[in-house]
Amino acid sequence: MTRVRNSWNKISEHYIRNYAISTEIIHYGPLCPGEDKLKLLGNLKGLRLLELGCGAGQNSIALARAGASVTALDFAEVQLEKGRSLAMEHKLDIKFVACDISDLSQFADRSFDIAFSSCTISFVKDIEKAFSEAYRVLVPGGRLIVTDMHPLQYILDEVDGGVSFNHTYPYTPIEMRWSWDFEARKGQKKLSAGFKHYVRSLSDYHNALVDTGFGVERILEPKSTLATPHKGFSQEIWREYRYIAKNLPITYIMLCRKPK
Ligand SMILES: C[S@@+](CC[C@H](N)C(=O)[O-])C[C@H]1O[C@@H](n2cnc3c(N)ncnc32)[C@H](O)[C@@H]1O
Repeated sequence: MTRVRNSWNKISEHYIRNYAISTEIIHYGPLCPGEDKLKLLGNLKGLRLLELGCGAGQNSIALARAGASVTALDFAEVQLEKGRSLAMEHKLDIKFVACDISDLSQFADRSFDIAFSSCTISFVKDIEKAFSEAYRVLVPGGRLIVTDMHPLQYILDEVDGGVSFNHTYPYTPIEMRWSWDFEARKGQKKLSAGFKHYVRSLSDYHNALVDTGFGVERILEPKSTLATPHKGFSQEIWREYRYIAKNLPITYIMLCRKPK
């Protein structure tokens, strides 16, 4: 966990610059249509929303612009600092909090209407704990939205411009260690950081959510698109994932609800 947190702190500046994620449209993940196209959230005006793993706050800003009252948490301080500055630039009142997703003890029971987590849950070891904490802080009838990279991308490799099955489907979660490498560019030094995350099947997530008590109302695997809200992000990701994106989804979305 410390390794991942330190690594996010280390790459924050490079990540923000390289992927240029939009603050205008609520995104669900790379090469995935945004909320402007999918319209999954409805009217957010006045709803108390907790973003779980907010990164540098781009989605928090988009969510606040849509009318939600946003509390944004992340365990990487540098990411939070970037988020605070970005929110200040946009003159938005967003509360940024240093916190681990698996321990929301600083938040009261039933204090949020929506919990929203994009592209973060695969970094979390104990998803049962994370989901039960989200469940606790939501009001009855409250919604949890979880999105992340689709597990298919981890079992396929690009070979000669095509796709090759090189890894086993994650029938049980697979712990992956890897290095995120940024090339030297104009005004940017070369940088590498070690990461660890967990590759799980969609059924692992679905069943953990159901075991926690959530109703999983929808699972979406949107067709990959270049026309995502993250202009810079999508171009970079398109270069990295075009071998998959032509035929397969890159991002999945789960829409869940705590019963009334
Ligand atoms: C890929 S970024 C996603 C940021 C944002 N949700 C988005 O979609 O743009 C993942 C973020 O999750 C954070 N993170 C990973 N594991 C976490 C944990 N256990 N608790 C809190 N934050 C975590 C990282 O620090 C990083 O900022």
